[in-house]
Amino acid sequence: MTPREYLILGIESSCDETAAAVVAGGRHILSNVVASQTDIHRKYGGVVPELASREHLRQIVPVVREAVEQAKITLGDVDAVAVTQGPGLVGALLVGVTYGKVLALSLGKPLVAVNHLEGHVHAVLLEARAAGSEPRLPAVCLIVSGGHTILYHVKSEGSNGATRVSYARIGGTRDDAAGEAYDKVARMLGLGYPGGPIIDRLAAHGNPQAMRFSEPKMHGNSYDFSFSGIKTAVLYYLRRNPQLEPEIQARRDALARGERSADSLRALSSPATLDLIASFQRAVVTNLVAQTFAATEHHTAHSVLVSGGVAANSELRRAFEAESARRGIESYFPSRALSTDNAAMIAAAGHARFVAGDRADSSLNAEANLPLA
Ligand code: KG4
Ligand code: ZN
Repeated sequence: MTPREYLILGIESSCDETAAAVVAGGRHILSNVVASQTDIHRKYGGVVPELASREHLRQIVPVVREAVEQAKITLGDVDAVAVTQGPGLVGALLVGVTYGKVLALSLGKPLVAVNHLEGHVHAVLLEARAAGSEPRLPAVCLIVSGGHTILYHVKSEGSNGATRVSYARIGGTRDDAAGEAYDKVARMLGLGYPGGPIIDRLAAHGNPQAMRFSEPKMHGNSYDFSFSGIKTAVLYYLRRNPQLEPEIQARRDALARGERSADSLRALSSPATLDLIASFQRAVVTNLVAQTFAATEHHTAHSVLVSGGVAANSELRRAFEAESARRGIESYFPSRALSTDNAAMIAAAGHARFVAGDRADSSLNAEANLPLA
């Protein structure tokens, strides 16, 4: 008889998604519920921390209930509760941590603390394993989202049975995260929030060679990133081209009327704007690919893992796949649903920690700046 797979209930509330999921054996998703707050934060053009905490508080109980119902289990069937401890917005994290602690305590089940970034790594591992493949370690992992742009060297330590994955930080952004640059550029162009998905769609209609952005010069750690320069370059371009102002206003007006589809925003975008968007995206993606593969070469990694909200980007996936094929290295992405914040990845990371014997107790606290390595 094969041993029963552990059922982990994952809880995630680090930013603007209230999420709960039940995952069996660290790889089979029984439910994955995400209550996104995008509609609430949209009119502010970014996440408002106070509103996020309040909304998590409203959503956490129904979201967990829904995850348990969809998994067709009861809370008593769960083997452990895994909760995101950090990094993230402290007030938002606190809702999940407090609820997770109370739930574990009242059920008499173990509590496992999960680092949100390790969750993103497990989003990739989970789906690769569910599809029957195991990414070969050591790997280089790029986590690229609205809050993070960071490269890790991912290794396995120990031998059979007791293997643990360990992380070493290779480099990270010195200013904006890549997703943040997408969001800020979208805001300047009157494309709404979040910026990534709409820029992804519109970039396909522009010429990515139309404009050249100078590459960031990295002194010190050459694996670091910087995206504030490209954001400023877009701003200066718009200042030099005031004739684009009326169409930006027209898009803002369309958004205010609730017309957010890529088709309606595209109809209000001139070729010059579409070229700017495509060139911006090409510059960001080229930089992410170059830095990641330089790190792969330096660390003789066998595979590349890419995770986080920006990993949903079509051009980024194409570019990583092309470069992987050229170099004979496997690259892995989560599905789009698991690229952005979710709790299935927290449950999967929690499963690995649970099996390794990691336990948290009622003294667990939210940590806004919790590092992974
Ligand atoms: O992982 P995530 O949900 O939250 C954070 O931990 O930040 O990532 C959200 C970020 C936002 O900045 C959003 O604009 C970006 O991911 N994003 C994308 C795409 N979908 C979401 N960026 C580029 N292309 C996309 N298709
Ligand atoms: Zn995230």
